[in-house]
Amino acid sequence: MGSIDTPQNPENGSTTLPPTTDASATYDGDQNPNNGMPPRATEMMLPIESEVVKKRKASMFPLEVGTRVLCRWRDCKYHPVKVIERRKIQSGGTNDYEYYVHYTEFNRRLDEWVKLEHLDLDSVETVVDEKVEDKVTSLKMTRHQKRKIDETHVEGHEELDAASLREHEEFTKVKNIATMELGRYEIETWYFSPFPPEYNDCLKLYFCEFCLNFMKRKEQLQRHMKKCDLKHPPGDEIYRSGTLSMFEIDGKKNKVYGQNLCYLAKLFLDHKTLYYDVDLFLFYVLCECDDRGCHMVGYFSKEKHSEESYNLACILTLPPYQRKGYGKFLIAFSYELSKKEGKVGTPERPLSDLGLLSYRGYWTRVLLDILKRHKGNISIKELSDMTAIKAEDILTTLQSLELIQYRKGQHVICADPKVLDRHLKAAGRGGLDVDVSKLIWTPYKEQG
Ligand code: ACO
Ligand code: ZN
Repeated sequence: MGSIDTPQNPENGSTTLPPTTDASATYDGDQNPNNGMPPRATEMMLPIESEVVKKRKASMFPLEVGTRVLCRWRDCKYHPVKVIERRKIQSGGTNDYEYYVHYTEFNRRLDEWVKLEHLDLDSVETVVDEKVEDKVTSLKMTRHQKRKIDETHVEGHEELDAASLREHEEFTKVKNIATMELGRYEIETWYFSPFPPEYNDCLKLYFCEFCLNFMKRKEQLQRHMKKCDLKHPPGDEIYRSGTLSMFEIDGKKNKVYGQNLCYLAKLFLDHKTLYYDVDLFLFYVLCECDDRGCHMVGYFSKEKHSEESYNLACILTLPPYQRKGYGKFLIAFSYELSKKEGKVGTPERPLSDLGLLSYRGYWTRVLLDILKRHKGNISIKELSDMTAIKAEDILTTLQSLELIQYRKGQHVICADPKVLDRHLKAAGRGGLDVDVSKLIWTPYKEQG
């Protein structure tokens, strides 16, 4: 688990259990701790309050969808959650439910099914009918306030308005596939993926690591592996350096592979539309190769023609390979392709939290390396020409590092070597290098 998954505010993270209200505690005059003094008002209230609590607890079950409560997480601490869904435990009694919860401090990939004993029932908040609440709040808000909320609420998903975001979250609220097997890895999934309806009832899927066909049962996969003759992704190998290879797959020529890859990738990508029309995309699949074959590490997709100068649509490093520099390799690779096309590029929005971190890290390192080596003035346009990074991304990166000043109607880059070194250190490791001399590729051209 990386640091991104820990709460942003450590004070919130270490939520301790609130004192438990003991429903059996009654006031006993003989044991008055106040040395003969009459009990204080709060103590007098206890027996009545306990009855209320008892009744309230009994009427609470099963918990309603929307309930907010504290839940014990894998760090053994209690964190605030919202109940997203509930289901009966098959072998349990009539009132035995488990709950699908969203940890409100964390990304949705950590949503999970929990049993009642994980929840601190004393922390249950009164259920609020959210639709009513939303309506009331939006009536009270000015248009400006509302726009602000809509903008900030969809943090990281700037292109989804509040309504589409709600619709998306409703449709994809519960993860359908819990784990997948791919090659020698069993991987816990992160998000919902719209597999065809016949896969609705399976919690685990078995993928052929080469053609990416997926199956419901292990035996099916074993039978498949005996007859599948692929040992690497289809398409052209356009890069090989040491044990790393990159394959380019045309979605039009390898439709089923493209679709399988999209289904798989959606298990780890939240706010991305699944394109069934894979014809319009090229897929760049990165593999680690050994004598058993080429094993997929990650990939990115790219539109064949992009009006918005996107040079990357979706990017994924499979969880067992994450935080090893493959993500930055894939990003660097996408810019090398743009350089060969003689274009500048930018990733499709919205970026996920991890996507933004990876891109920010990459942009910072590439730009600051140049600024460090460069003597004399340099413009954003020149930086963009050298790196194929779109000017807007250069500007926001340098602005976020406070390296830009606005003087006499112009943006000026202020690059003090000591400041650059400090930022470079903070930008993390550089990732795996792309050896451009090993890239054999020509830009896509429509045939005929
Ligand atoms: N916690 C904190 N920082 C992280 C984490 C994490 N869990 N993961 C990545 N980072 C940051 C770090 O700064 C890291 O650099 P460092 O290790 O030098 O500190 C940097 O991002 C990138 O690290 P890499 O090892 O190069 O990247 P990785 O192989 O882990 O892949 C990726 C990054 C592709 C974003 C991966 O996390 C992933 O597949 N996530 C799920 C899918 C996703 O969100 N894709 C982006 C969607 S946006 C789009 O597609 C346009
Ligand atoms: Zn296969």
